[in-house]
Amino acid sequence: MPHLEHIGLATADPEAVAALYEMLLGVQPYKRERVDREGVQTHFISAGSTKLELLEALSPDSPVARYLEKRGEGLHHLAFEVDDIHAHMATLREKGFTPLSDEPKPGADGKLIFFLHPKQTHGVLVEFCQSVATPLVPTQIPYQDEHLTVYERGHTANPTLVVLHGAAGATLLETAPLIAHLEQLFHVLALDFAGHGASGALAEQPFSIPFFADNVRALFDAFDLDKAHLFGFSMGGSVALQFAFDHPERIAHLAIHAANLVWDERLVRRMNARLQAEAINQKYPSLATHLDAAHGDWEHLFARLQQMVRTLPEHLNLLDQLAQVPHPTLVSAMDQDDLFSLDAPLALHRALPNSTLAILPGTRHAFADVDPALYHRLLVQHFKP
Ligand code: CO
Repeated sequence: MPHLEHIGLATADPEAVAALYEMLLGVQPYKRERVDREGVQTHFISAGSTKLELLEALSPDSPVARYLEKRGEGLHHLAFEVDDIHAHMATLREKGFTPLSDEPKPGADGKLIFFLHPKQTHGVLVEFCQSVATPLVPTQIPYQDEHLTVYERGHTANPTLVVLHGAAGATLLETAPLIAHLEQLFHVLALDFAGHGASGALAEQPFSIPFFADNVRALFDAFDLDKAHLFGFSMGGSVALQFAFDHPERIAHLAIHAANLVWDERLVRRMNARLQAEAINQKYPSLATHLDAAHGDWEHLFARLQQMVRTLPEHLNLLDQLAQVPHPTLVSAMDQDDLFSLDAPLALHRALPNSTLAILPGTRHAFADVDPALYHRLLVQHFKP
């Protein structure tokens, strides 16, 4: 259902209003954006589950300037986000409303928007908006004569958060919807691990958790990060913990979702059954096509992952090392994860000296099952950008 996305406030003195909300809420504007077509400069302030959009007129004939002249500073509009803005506009027309534009038009903050006139809405200008996903653009960083791919989003002035996908995943396959939320408050750097997504194959390198942690080290070096937050899903979570153990001084806070550090032969068999390329080709040809588009040689990737998984009972002794990972860590998992039991997050939570635990409803071991808006709120609480 539509939710309150932001509240627009018209202001003649944005610096003073920003200073006021810094006193009231303890946060500064995280983004400024000009919308020249509307003659307005916007300033966004995070307010928990919603935002404030301060509106400053850029010229005396802009709609906001006329508004200020007529009504003075204060509440300008309420904005509700909808899933399908074109359909919503059509529905409202059928109900007798006259939107202020013929079509939804581009507004600030990567959104399509339209307004209803206050005459039709009991005195409050109402905006409807829908985020339009702009594609993530890959950046390549050199790595061992090949390259790794990183997707960078958000303002570099915001705290940096490095995002790691799971085994057989990729940024575009798994974490992209979460990044669409995170990029508003964080400088996001999302890595595709070697052999995954748009990164180089590094075909000579056997996969291991320390190898992928070294991929993360290469990202930190390439972007000159002294210290950053780190999030990892599943294998990405194990890699994040390995990296925190190897380079504790480079980590601020950690968040680990659906990771497992205790492997036995039964779990190895269960995991590797999911990585049977032949079975996927036979039973799920459309998934095979999908994987082909995402990774290139996905069958080789799956074979290399199976190799690694076989070594996990022997080599993944990270759990014993977690006492030396003092960083504030959010450990989360799905309550009915069909791959890892709840013992996995509980073991992590107990082993990490400074962790909090969140169990979310969900049945599949897939990041697609995580509600990105809900998880984003957990991460904001934890990382306090
Ligand atoms: Co607005």
